[in-house]
Amino acid sequence: MEDLNKVGFCGLMHDVGKMKVPLEILNKPGSLEDYEMDIMRKHTLYGRNVLMSARNVYPGAVDVAYDHHEHLAGTGYPRGLNKTTLSIFTKLVAVVDTYDAITSDRVYQRGKPHLMALGILVKGMGQQFEANYVTQFINCIGFYPQGNLVELSSGEVGLIVEQNKADRLKPKILLIQDGNKNPIEEKILDLSLNIADASGKRYGVKQVIRPQDCGVDLAKYYQDGKFTKEYVVVG
Ligand SMILES: [Fe+2]
Repeated sequence: MEDLNKVGFCGLMHDVGKMKVPLEILNKPGSLEDYEMDIMRKHTLYGRNVLMSARNVYPGAVDVAYDHHEHLAGTGYPRGLNKTTLSIFTKLVAVVDTYDAITSDRVYQRGKPHLMALGILVKGMGQQFEANYVTQFINCIGFYPQGNLVELSSGEVGLIVEQNKADRLKPKILLIQDGNKNPIEEKILDLSLNIADASGKRYGVKQVIRPQDCGVDLAKYYQDGKFTKEYVVVG
């Protein structure tokens, strides 16, 4: 099995132990009591057991399920392992899983913005996460990942449809709402061309926003292939 397939499998299976955690704990809207937290943390052990009892499972996935909440400094759970014993795939999955946990909506918390999640990962470099893996993750995903919705300096709203590898702060954006957040005829804006908005000021990204906060159905844009199309913009 190639390494990419292996690590992909580890990523898919890392939380499989959660199926053994009672739903009332898994979906509890408020914070967990200590005893509930103890049970929740057992998803790592449950995951290890589930994968060990399955046939023909890539063995590295057992380690990832068991160890993905461990920290390099030995301050994680369930065993307090440190960087000397954690596998490469475990350290990779820990970075991606933490990003996902921070940015996703859960019953007990609203997902936090992309840049805030990157900040938390950077803060954990060396202590919690392998520093180089955090850097590589940020290099891959960029500051404004494809599929994110942004409000521009003009107040207009657009979707990031293409990264700009030469300057991650200047992606291509599909404009979908005007400054009053009303739908407009879609058009592409390439920030690397340093175009001015209607008031004559150069366009920039003001903030990453959540689709549900401005009535945008991202699924529609995925279905229409807006994120896989190649956009050629002439400045
Ligand atoms: Fe987990």
